[in-house]
Amino acid sequence: MKNYFILFAIILFFFSCSNGETALIKDYKLEESKKVHPLTNKWEKTVPYQEIPEGLSSISAKSCGTCHQEHYKEWKHSTHSHAWTDPQFQAEIAKETSPFMCINCHIPLENQQENIVTGLIDGDVYQPVSHKNTRFDKALQQEGINCASCHVRNGAVIGMTGTNKAPHKTIKDSLHLSENLCISCHNAVATISPQLPCTFETGDEWKAGPYFGKKNCKTCHMPDTIRAIVSGYAERKSHLHYFMGSGIPKFIDKPTKMLNGLLIEQLPIQKELKIGDTLTMKINITNAYAGHKVPTGDPERFFLIEQSIYTKDSVLLAQKTHRIGEEWEWYPLAKKISDNNLLPKEKRTFRLNFKITSKKELIYHVKVTKNRANEENKKYNKLPEDYPIRVTIFEDDISIKF
Ligand code: HEC
Ligand code: HEC
Ligand code: HEC
Ligand code: HEC
Ligand code: HEC
Repeated sequence: MKNYFILFAIILFFFSCSNGETALIKDYKLEESKKVHPLTNKWEKTVPYQEIPEGLSSISAKSCGTCHQEHYKEWKHSTHSHAWTDPQFQAEIAKETSPFMCINCHIPLENQQENIVTGLIDGDVYQPVSHKNTRFDKALQQEGINCASCHVRNGAVIGMTGTNKAPHKTIKDSLHLSENLCISCHNAVATISPQLPCTFETGDEWKAGPYFGKKNCKTCHMPDTIRAIVSGYAERKSHLHYFMGSGIPKFIDKPTKMLNGLLIEQLPIQKELKIGDTLTMKINITNAYAGHKVPTGDPERFFLIEQSIYTKDSVLLAQKTHRIGEEWEWYPLAKKISDNNLLPKEKRTFRLNFKITSKKELIYHVKVTKNRANEENKKYNKLPEDYPIRVTIFEDDISIKF
């Protein structure tokens, strides 16, 4: 119950990220004493307005998709394409308490933003100075992190080869399309207010781990393949654009591809058990495949490992639930209390002990779920009943006979 309370507090204060200013940005009439400070932090700024590259008529993903059909289809499956429409994100930014810069990683282009923030009164993120964006494109906003977020800069399409076969102006910039692009959004460590720290440390976790210098974000999340990137053109090196990750979808009818980070191994049952002995059921879980902690990113994410012992007629005799995730305290100062996320390559053993009192057959059930929010959060945000917050990644029944 205490855990739930803390998690509930996380929901209230992490994503609401503050205490009382409206997300609808107002045009402030400045008083003499108030000073407007320029934006200084990276996450306070948007990617500046992007013009349509020569040879194209739009920078929408939909328009890129008329030629790059497979990239478009894959991207539509990705969470990036739902970074704006995600019901949880919408619920959170609608709150009076969400600061203006929440949108900067979710709809990063100025073209996608209704208002342009130019400064902060007294440097306060809850008092942005802004004006209407006359070039705001609502359709582009709906696309969240779209092709142009990553590929369009300074009137050109950025690619890895700078091919001259494209009908659009193309510039080679492999540095821009490196893992640094991913890290620019997937790593944010800042204290915005005493109750609002932002802690997405996927980039730092990767840099500190065993994959650094060997495999990067793209290697695992954008695996390479050989194919024509526009039908009718010659095959070339290409990359899948599913950006597969946790695999927990944002919409029940729009599945997203999953990467699995964990190796799950059931250990054999002890032999020759007698009445009075303690049966110990063990399961090993290793972060075998992820280049960072599991879970990573949003501190609300967690895994549950549920071990249960039943009679043959489904009467529950014993149960233990283990949690892998972070726990936070939010008042008076936001503070991480614990973090047992699995480091890359780390292995942990989970146990359930049960005292044998009869020779009747037992059923051992184990279930592992991946969660990106809990039920309280879902209720608090008034998310629809069918809004998915978890997936089951492992389930097994073992019969124990004596
Ligand atoms: C520095 C970039 C950045 C900023 C600023 C940012 N986000 Fe995000 N947000 C992300 C990334 C990256 C993810 C991907 C999820 C992960 O890493 O677990 C994400 C995921 C989310 C999710 C989905 C959570 C999940 O587990 O699926 C919600 C909701 C969300 N953000 C809300 C917000 C709100 C509200 C704010 C403002 C307080 C905000 N974001 C500001 C980068 C950002
Ligand atoms: C009218 C068709 C068409 C449209 C629309 C189009 N492209 Fe292309 N694009 C091409 C062709 C053709 C190539 C070159 C194919 C090849 O190299 O095999 C190309 C190449 C590319 C490359 C590779 C560049 C490199 O350096 O290797 C990228 C990246 C790219 N396009 C992104 C986009 C994005 C993003 C959009 C939308 C803003 C877009 N394209 C819209 C036809 C199109
Ligand atoms: C403009 C900011 C931005 C950039 C650049 C970016 N991401 Fe993301 N990414 C996000 C946000 C925001 C989300 C979560 C959206 C949501 O849940 O609503 C996300 C989600 C993801 C997810 C899915 C997480 C899950 O829950 O399954 C993966 C995987 C991912 N990004 C990988 C990458 C990789 C790899 C790159 C670099 C090629 C990259 N991202 C570049 C902002 C960004
Ligand atoms: C060695 C492969 C590997 C590398 C390198 C890697 N990832 Fe991952 N990533 C994974 C796997 C596997 C998962 C799925 C973990 C799970 O949920 O079981 C994952 C999950 C994620 C998620 C979803 C959040 C979650 O907890 O499931 C995000 C976001 C993400 N990665 C971003 C990145 C970024 C950004 C980088 C680069 C800094 C990166 N990854 C580097 C393999 C990798
Ligand atoms: C989150 C960033 C991101 C988004 C969103 C994104 N791309 Fe890419 N794309 C990349 C990166 C990074 C590469 C380069 C991979 C490499 O070669 O290392 C790439 C490569 C490409 C290429 C070159 C061929 C290939 O597959 O490697 C094409 C074409 C392309 N993207 C088209 C698109 C289209 C079309 C969309 C939208 C439907 C899109 N991309 C969305 C990051 C992104």
